[in-house]
Parts: sequence; structure tokens; C-alpha cells
Amino acid sequence: MFNNMDNKSDINNISIEALKNINLDDVNLDMPVPDTEPGRQYYFMGKCKQLVKNISDEIGRPLRYYIKTFGCQMNARDSEKLTAILECLGYEEAEEGACDFILYNTCTVRENANQKVYGRLGHLKSQKRDNPYMIIGLCGCMMQEAHVVEKICKSYPFVDLIFGTHNIFKFAELLYYRLQSGNQIVDIWENTDQIVEELPSRRKFPFKAGVNIMYGCNNFCSYCIVPYVRGRERSREPKAILREIEHLVEDGVVEIMLLGQNVNSYGNGLCEPINFAELLKEVDKIDGLQRIRFMTSHPKDLSDELISVMANSKKVCRHFHLPLQSGSSRLLKSMNRKYTKEQYIGLVEKLREAMPDLSITTDIIVGYPGETEDDFLETMDVVRRVKYDSAYTFIYSRRSGTPAADMEQVPEDIVKDRFDRLLTLVNEISKKRTGRLEGKTAEVLVENVNAHDCSMVTGRLDNNILVHFKGSKNDIGTFKNVYLKKAMGFYYLGEVR
Ligand code: 5AD
Ligand code: SF4
Repeated sequence: MFNNMDNKSDINNISIEALKNINLDDVNLDMPVPDTEPGRQYYFMGKCKQLVKNISDEIGRPLRYYIKTFGCQMNARDSEKLTAILECLGYEEAEEGACDFILYNTCTVRENANQKVYGRLGHLKSQKRDNPYMIIGLCGCMMQEAHVVEKICKSYPFVDLIFGTHNIFKFAELLYYRLQSGNQIVDIWENTDQIVEELPSRRKFPFKAGVNIMYGCNNFCSYCIVPYVRGRERSREPKAILREIEHLVEDGVVEIMLLGQNVNSYGNGLCEPINFAELLKEVDKIDGLQRIRFMTSHPKDLSDELISVMANSKKVCRHFHLPLQSGSSRLLKSMNRKYTKEQYIGLVEKLREAMPDLSITTDIIVGYPGETEDDFLETMDVVRRVKYDSAYTFIYSRRSGTPAADMEQVPEDIVKDRFDRLLTLVNEISKKRTGRLEGKTAEVLVENVNAHDCSMVTGRLDNNILVHFKGSKNDIGTFKNVYLKKAMGFYYLGEVR
């Protein structure tokens, strides 16, 4: 079915399902460039592969790549797709200092993430001088900010390839233009309503995978740059999501994480109405799938239906990440979060009532503009009352273009003091919470061999807490019943039962 007269594939006429299994060497590269996706990208992968082979033949070794991912799970998932494309082209994975193509998939949620990228770019200049084939690429959220791209083009002109979040699917095409012309390629889209399905992907773990269910965010929390760099909310069709998960399970995956900036508003805008709770119910039915996680939930959209689907499921893990951001209703209003302190606590009560063993984690920002000591004490109060299993605590970072950037900022020394107090409280509570399972036996999914002691493995409980115990690499991807012998603060030391 793939072959036309000269035994080469005409990508325009191949089904999406079949495209994933196509051999790039069989792509007919003499045909006009396909107009439609993802065929167009498979065409450019075929083109790139030839160029990569030519260079490899010339230098007498395979070309090597390194991808550094900053930021969240969405970026991690994007990097798996970028990795797969590079491997299809013949690139081999290498260390940062020994590669011919380096790609930074950037994050811009806080300013320190940006600084890390600039710092690393400074070092790359000499690496590039020593390797005439070296290509430096930048992509991801930071690239969606015009002032960043301007700065890079001016101060780091040796960067070869710049693209953003909306056109990440065009990676092969852009890389082809760079390899073929030697010119700097910059391609940033302001927004998109396109979702390109069925490009290759290489999972970091054979037994677990992230699955995007939606892209973008419509919430415009006043401190947050994500809606500006990731665009408006777009949900994937449920059929495409379920098919992807079924394929993953056939391929040995037992745990999936459904990904979106605000999974609780999944389904808005789709032709056939569906909400997140309904999607979860469908995912739950997939045979062979054993654990389901999701990230991130916005409290304003957390429905009773979702709580009930979760409570009635044996597969949905007993872990809920519910970002608080602030415990002060006054600040929550200014943050445009659309819930009050009392409503948030009400949700936690509902969750705990439905699932008494649930782990709850959160994100908290300290030093949001206008935060008074009283506001901060409200946050401390919520932390004491909810008793989070763990909390990611962030110092507010001013993001230009967001409403909060123009508000009166809190002095640094005050923020630092509050941050330290919050962290001490969070750690104290989290240590106690983790301890509650000491002496019990629970199921652990083994993830990797311990980096410090190769006679030990590390796995994850259903509630997301890590457990270290004796084992070997053969245990990776399997479930073990582990006696949680000692709680060590944020993890357990255990013994297989
Ligand atoms: N400053 C500090 N933290 C932020 N977050 C988002 N924007 C900012 C900012 N400007 C945090 C929020 C969010 C998490 C992913 O990052 O807590 O939930
Ligand atoms: Fe940012 Fe708010 Fe959207 Fe989360 S929900 S990505 S904090 S704007």
C-alpha cells in the first residue's frame, strides 16, 4: 500500500496510522513538498536524513545530539517528540560537551529559568568554534517572547535555529532548512489552533508515559506568562487520546500521566461535548493500564463528578496536585484565580472525604505584589489546615507583559523571610505526612536503579512518594509489594515482601 510506481511512498496518500511505521528511506523525495501535516514533516525527515548521512560519511562518525529540557512536564513531553525525530534522522544521543546538535527546550515561567539558558549559551560559543558541524537550537516557551528572541539574535548570533511552542511539530522542516542553507533559521508563531497528531515520539521510560490531553491556557492568572507563550486552550479529540494510550499500553506502558495546564477544563471547544471526568472514565476502561495520573488541576474547575470518578476508580492514583498559589482571598482575587480561601479548603475537605488516603500537593507563590504579612499568614494557615504531602514553593517572579508586573512589588528581604518561614512549615508537615505509612506494605512501581547505590532501586507509590529498596535493573517497570520500613522525610526505605 505504501508503494507507488518507483517503490517510493507518496506521503500525501498514506493514512496517519501508517505514517508512524514508515521507513524514511522509502519516502519519495522527488515529489513536491506535501501540503498537509504530518506527511509534510515525514517528507522533511526523509530530506534531513539524507543530509545527516552525507555529513556523517564526510566526518566518518554518526552525528550526536543533546537535548536539555527546562521546566514542566509539558516541555518534557515535547522533548520526547524532538528526541524521536533526531533519532529517526540518524543522530545519536551524547553528552552536552560532545555533541553536534544541542537543543535547549526552554521555560520562562520564572526569570531564573531564563538566566540559566543565557548562562549556558555563553559557554557554547567556544564549543561551536571547535566543531564546524555544531548546530545550536533553542525552542520552547522562552522563544515566544519577542524581547528574548531579539536579545538572542543580537547577543548570541551563533545560535542556528530558533522556534517556539506553537510550531514545534515543524522541527524536521526547520532543521532541514538550517542543514541545507547554513543560515540562521528563526520561526516563531504568535498563536495556533492546530494540533498535529501522530509524529514520532521516544519515551524516556518504557513503562510510563505522559499524554497531552490539551495545550495552552485561558486563565490569565495575573502573575503568569504561560497563556502568552503557550496560547489559548486547545483540547485533543478524545479518540486520538484513547488511541494513543491504547498503543502505549500495547507497547508495555502501565502508568500514564494526562497532561494539560488546566486538565479540569478539558473538552471546551470540542465538537462533541466531553469533560475531563468523562475522559478519565474512558481512560480507566483501557485494559492493561494500571495507573493513571493527571496534572494540573485548577481549583475553580474541580467538579464533584471528577472527585466521584476518581474515588470509584482503582487505576486513578491517590494523588491530587491542587495549586493554592495564595491563602489570602484578597490576593487570590488580584491573581484572578476565581476562588476564595474558604472555597479551596472546601474542595480539600470534599476530596479527603471521598478518598481519605489521598495525598494532596500544591504550588504556592510567596511575595506576589501587594502581599502583606496578614496575607502571608493566611497562606500559612491554609498550609497548616490542609497538611500537604508536599508543596512546591516559589518566590514571585516578575514576568513582563503580565498584569502583576506593573503592580507594587514586595521588598526582596521581606519575601525571602516569608519564603524561609513557609518552607520550614511545609517541610515539617510533609515529613509528618510521609511518616503515616511507615510500617505498612504498599505497591511500588519500580522506576530506576538508585544513582548512588546500584544494589538499590527506586520506585513510586500510588500517592507519588518515592521508596528505595534492594533490587536490580530487572525490576524496572514492575510492581513490587514493599514493606515501608522507615520514613526518611520525603521518601521511604523499604523491603520487598
Ligand atoms: N512567579 C513565581 N511562580 C510562578 N508560577 C507561575 N508563574 C509564576 C511567577 N510569575 C508558579 C505557579 C504555578 C507553577 C507552575 O509556577 O505556582 O502553579
Ligand atoms: Fe498560569 Fe494560571 Fe494558566 Fe496555571 S492556570 S498556567 S498559573 S495562567
